Amino acid sequence: MAILNILHYPDPRLRNKALPVEAVTDDIRQLADDMLETMYEAPGIGLAAIQVNVQKRLIVIDISEDKSDPLILINPEVIAAEGEREFEEGCLSVPEAYEAVTRADRIKVKAINRDGDNMEFDAEGLLATCIQHEIDHLDGKLFVDYLSNLKRQRIRKKLEKHQKQKL
Ligand code: NI
Repeated sequence: MAILNILHYPDPRLRNKALPVEAVTDDIRQLADDMLETMYEAPGIGLAAIQVNVQKRLIVIDISEDKSDPLILINPEVIAAEGEREFEEGCLSVPEAYEAVTRADRIKVKAINRDGDNMEFDAEGLLATCIQHEIDHLDGKLFVDYLSNLKRQRIRKKLEKHQKQKL
């Protein structure tokens, strides 16, 4: 297991688009396990491979309070969505910024699991929000893209300043 480096906004590599995983190999399982460890350590409730600079369609999520419910989704897709839910989102790639984003409240998801099997399930509430947020990452999209230009610029400036201070 290894802790991976998480890219921070406005790093242009967060805009890369991820490619489908063609086969669930030991390397993919290792990546998923490392991503879970990285997410737990951060700590966060979701992480997409793009955030650790791997352009593959793989996300990990755990919305439980005690790290007891890891979810690994490979090539995840939302195949149905309904309702609306506003939630104050954050992101491990956008530290210390939290803003309300509206997404579908109930979704049907299709994905491949860690064993390489196809799965389909319904998700709602926080889990639905989290899955949509992570799938956005795979398409090079960040939650700040849903905000006004003014809010996004403010977050960008704050993070750029923060990054300079760390040099
Ligand atoms: Ni995120």
